[in-house]
Order: sequence, then C-alpha cells, then structure tokens
Amino acid sequence: DTLSDRSLRAVAQLIKDGAAKQIVVMTGAGISTAAGIPDFRSPKTGLYHNLARLNLPHPEAVFEIDFFRDNPEPFYLLAKELYPGNFSPTISHAFIALLAKKGLLRMLFTQNIDCLERAAGVPADRIIEAHGSFATQRCIDCKTPFPDDQMREHVKRGEAPRCARDGCGGLVKPDIVFFGEQLPEAFHSNISVPCAADLVLVMGTSLLVHPFAGLPRRAREGVPRVLFNLERVGDMGTRADDVLVLGDCDSGIRKLADELGWRDELEALWRG
Ligand code: OAD
Repeated sequence: DTLSDRSLRAVAQLIKDGAAKQIVVMTGAGISTAAGIPDFRSPKTGLYHNLARLNLPHPEAVFEIDFFRDNPEPFYLLAKELYPGNFSPTISHAFIALLAKKGLLRMLFTQNIDCLERAAGVPADRIIEAHGSFATQRCIDCKTPFPDDQMREHVKRGEAPRCARDGCGGLVKPDIVFFGEQLPEAFHSNISVPCAADLVLVMGTSLLVHPFAGLPRRAREGVPRVLFNLERVGDMGTRADDVLVLGDCDSGIRKLADELGWRDELEALWRG
C-alpha cells in the first residue's frame, strides 16, 4: 500500500462524500497512446522523434503556421496517420465520460485533436478543445469552411486541399491550433473554470505547451490535483495536496475506479 494508493483512496472518498463534484480534467496526448495514436514528446515513440523522414528544420515545424503556408505536405502526411475514425477511445476517455454521466464533470480541457473524448461520450458542452480538432476545416486565407467529405478524401491521399471559393485557392487546414495561432475563444472564455474546481485531474500531458500548461496552477490552494502520467510534469507534486499516480494512465484510472466502486460500470461504458 503506497502513499499514492492511500492518496488515491482519499481522493475517491472526496468524490463519494460529495465533496468533489466540480471536477476539472486536463488531458494531453498520453491518454490516447493506448488507442494507438503516438504522443509528441515521448522518446522513441513520440511523433517529434519520428519526423526525420519529413526533412523538417525542426520537428515542431510540422505544426507551425508559417512553415505550413510554404510547405503543407509534411502536415498532410501526418494527418493521414492522425485522422479520427481509425481509433477507439481508451478507458481513460471512458472515465471522463463516466464523470460527466454522474454530473461530476465541470469541464474537460483537452489538447488532443483526435476527438476521442466525444467518441467516448463526453458531452460537447463539457469539452474545451484547447488546440482545436480535426472536426472542421477552413481556408487559412479567406476562412471559408471546406466540406468534410472532400477533406476526408484529401487526407486519405495525403494531399493539401485548396479553397474552392472563386479566385481564392488558399490552403485548407483543419481547425487545429498551430504554433503561431490563437487558441479558440472557448479556451479564453473558460480560463477561470479551473479556479472553481474542487478536484483537478491531469492526465497524459507533458505540460510543456503554453498557455494550456498554466491551467493546473489555476486550481485554488488546498484543492487536490491528481496527476496520471508516466512522468512527473510541470509543477505537479509541488503542492501539499497533489497526488502523483505515475505509470500508464489507464492503470491509474482503473485503480481510482476500483476505489470508487465504479469499476464494472466503467468497463461496461468503455466496451459500449
Ligand atoms: P506530449 O507528447 O508532449 O506529452 C505526453 C505525456 O504523456 C508525456 O509526459 C508522456 O510521458 C505521457 N504519456 C505517454 N503515454 C502515456 C500513458 N499511456 N499513460 C500516461 N502517460 C503517458 O503531449 P502533449 O502534452 O499533449 O500541440 O503535447 C502538448 C501539445 O504539444 C500538443 O497538443 C501539440 C504538441 O505540439 C500542437 O500541435 C499545437
């Protein structure tokens, strides 16, 4: 029985007692690796370590708006691999949906663009897609939306679509936030939500990309913050009430579900 086991039990007790019912969840690519989608920064398996073949000046360039303008092909090569539809949610995604089902999810802030939280059943009005998603796309010049079905065809072929509006011909890009672009309005208008949390769960993120990385710090002092991640990240672990559940997040989430007595319900929801 480790300290983190005991702490996780204490966190579960808060939820069972009704003391934690405004739960704010913050996620990153680590919650989708078990679904077969690589994360960005893990050594060996992360996307950024496997982009040598694309001849980029540096790995992040694939998601930089200025680079994309001149050179959209590398992004479209990747998009083919990352495009939603080819993947199923993990049990960690299902847990967030279960929190929502029980009326305990105040908000999910995700950096992921894979739409797996929607696929798992988290209601759209409880999700802030801080880095956008592949759900819609538009011209980067005139902003005219581009049809979903045509987008799917282009992505399948690994080809950059061009705006169909008369005389435009600009590049079309999924509405995912590139480096050098503003985060969606919904991120900014909900930036205070973490301050109202009575429990914060951080899952599968390196907390290296700002402004998202600043969200956990917005939790009030004394509000437990639980990290489910392979490694310690950001300032997680520096507060007395922080709980570190290091390891793969699906295992950590199953442990928490066990402590809550929700395990069967969770597995059933996940299997659909
Ligand atoms: P990263 O790849 O930076 O970090 C993923 C984190 O999850 C790392 O700390 C891993 O150790 C951890 N991890 C991986 N697999 C895990 C597992 N099964 N269980 C638990 N932890 C696991 O991904 P993000 O933090 O999401 O932005 O990256 C943030 C942003 O950087 C992305 O949204 C993307 C990227 O550039 C844009 O493209 C704008």
